[in-house]
Amino acid sequence: MRLFFALWPDERVRAQLTRWARELHAACGGRLMRSESLHLTLAFLGNVEDARVAEVERAAAAIAARAFSLKLDQPGHWKHNRIAWAGASVVPPELDALVADLRAALSGAHVVFDPKAFVSHVTLLRDASEPRAMPALQPIEWKPDSFALMRSVVLPRGSRYEVRQSWKVLQQSDC
Ligand code: 2AM
Repeated sequence: MRLFFALWPDERVRAQLTRWARELHAACGGRLMRSESLHLTLAFLGNVEDARVAEVERAAAAIAARAFSLKLDQPGHWKHNRIAWAGASVVPPELDALVADLRAALSGAHVVFDPKAFVSHVTLLRDASEPRAMPALQPIEWKPDSFALMRSVVLPRGSRYEVRQSWKVLQQSDC
């Protein structure tokens, strides 16, 4: 099955991202991601044999992810893949650590993933043109309480994502 790890926004963050997507759409055109599909990918595994999924889950369960606050304050556009996205001008060290620990745990379990460097972003539009100017957007404060293993189900009209399992981010009071 096709799997990836991601941060999944709560309703409030999702609503704000959806507002960004609409405003960016006015500047870039393209295809809006479905609101319920918006996420921030931590590691992309691609196809994993059913028999190996338990190992993937064990690797994730061994991670102690620390709480952080992510401020999405930077809209962007990539020419090479025509994606318009929401990003953070400052990536909290706890988020970098979560990605590094997750990827190290996957490597330790001999689970293959896309090794491209982590670039923290939420894809909002696909097939988007480069905007003349980025709209000014209200920053979004996001405090994820968990990270998730997602399954991507490919349908004729795009992918649908399902949470397979999620793991809590440790709040300071848990330490
Ligand atoms: P993107 O939004 O920047 O395309 C599910 O496909 C998620 O995994 C998307 O967030 C996608 O990022 C991300 N992803 C990362 N590497 C990928 C790859 N090699 N193939 C497909 N999706 C990838």
